Amino acid sequence: MKRIGIIGTSMRAGAFARALASDFTATHGIVGLLDPDEGKARGFCAFNKVDAPLFHDFESFLEGCRPDLVLVATVDVFHAGYIVKLLDRKVGVISEKPLCINAEQARTILAAHRRNPEVFAVTSHNVRYSPVTRQIKRLLDEGAIGKVMRLSYAESLDRMHGTSYFRRWNSRRKNSNGLELHKSCHHFDLLNYLLKTQAAYVSAEGMLVAYGQKAPHKFEGTRCHECPHKDECPGYSDYNHTLFAGSYTPDMCIWSPEIDIEDNYSASIVFRNGVLATYSLCAHANYSGEHIVFEGETGRLEFRSRTFRENMDPRDVHDTMVTPVESLRLYRFGKTGAEEFPVRHENTSHGGADAALFHDLFAPEPPPTLPTLEDGIQAVLTGCAVVESIRTGRRIDVQGQLKEV
Ligand SMILES: NC(=O)c1ccc[n+]([C@@H]2O[C@H](COP(=O)([O-])OP(=O)(O)OC[C@H]3O[C@@H](n4cnc5c(N)ncnc54)[C@H](O)[C@@H]3O)[C@@H](O)[C@H]2O)c1
Repeated sequence: MKRIGIIGTSMRAGAFARALASDFTATHGIVGLLDPDEGKARGFCAFNKVDAPLFHDFESFLEGCRPDLVLVATVDVFHAGYIVKLLDRKVGVISEKPLCINAEQARTILAAHRRNPEVFAVTSHNVRYSPVTRQIKRLLDEGAIGKVMRLSYAESLDRMHGTSYFRRWNSRRKNSNGLELHKSCHHFDLLNYLLKTQAAYVSAEGMLVAYGQKAPHKFEGTRCHECPHKDECPGYSDYNHTLFAGSYTPDMCIWSPEIDIEDNYSASIVFRNGVLATYSLCAHANYSGEHIVFEGETGRLEFRSRTFRENMDPRDVHDTMVTPVESLRLYRFGKTGAEEFPVRHENTSHGGADAALFHDLFAPEPPPTLPTLEDGIQAVLTGCAVVESIRTGRRIDVQGQLKEV
């Protein structure tokens, strides 16, 4: 039996806990939890039906439950500290994305990984595992459009999805360094993976327009559940009270002056293999979705996904109840019209991506194709370059960030 520890009794850790309890009971068991928030951990255990001891500090956790493998699924800024300690204690690590939030943390993780190369350590970049990613990867690898030369990637988060980041710790730069890391690291990893390369240079612009102090709003409070404006405010939201039973509630005011990250940005990325990309994210869109276009030597591959929802069930923390409208089209030069590829979507956690990731992560012999710490670092470096370019107005040498002292 592999002994699994969990750092951060988060919504995300819940997806792992539920999968472990349903699909991997013969080989894996949760032996301990680490979270400073007693109530949050209690809510996690009740919601996910987990029965394991809770610890409040790292040393007691490690000694008390002696894990073989630890899931680091806490607030992003804390990932690096735990990863380094686990590697140096020779304990396997699955880190949630983003692996860390700045280049300095990336350098410390890389150094710890080099000191302990034999320790199993991966980054949970589950988007690689979605059914459509696998279809796109297969088509690109088969040469369906020849060599990719140019791409565009537009990500939109509807107000339900977008506000979810502005109601919580994510919206403070000190915790996440912004959606450029917290959200877009998924997409930056995906591009590196699909193009088999890494980002070289980034130029970006970004701003906060729909949330925070400068947004066109009428109300300001602290937390929705105790706010005097709750009946009139367009930003009011309730939350799952079983899951969030601690001091931390996911209903912080989306108009707060303390919000200091961007909700809109766009970047030009030049990859090491010469591909030029434009990337953008809008966190207050009409619908959630993606529009990704690959222009190749012999054709164009285009993926479009749109998710419309009017009401969201607060239990649907990983989009298991929404079905996007998706299309994947291949346009070949010299031919009119498109070849249409049916997109398989599963109404399970993250459209089937999580089940496929967990299958590999918890296999008796986890395959070497799992996203590595280096992959996680590359996604972080691209995100940091976007943040830095927005801040300074300069073009950023992505790999150069690893060399800074
Ligand atoms: N791969 C994915 O699809 C995916 C999806 C969602 C979230 N995530 C990642 O999972 C992680 C958790 O995100 P979430 O939104 O589920 O979190 P959450 O807000 O539900 O929970 C965060 C938890 O961390 C705990 N915590 C705070 N400080 C801590 C510390 N110093 N040590 C240990 N625990 C501490 C909090 O008490 C809380 O229980 C993040 O890194 C996020 O980026 C990944």
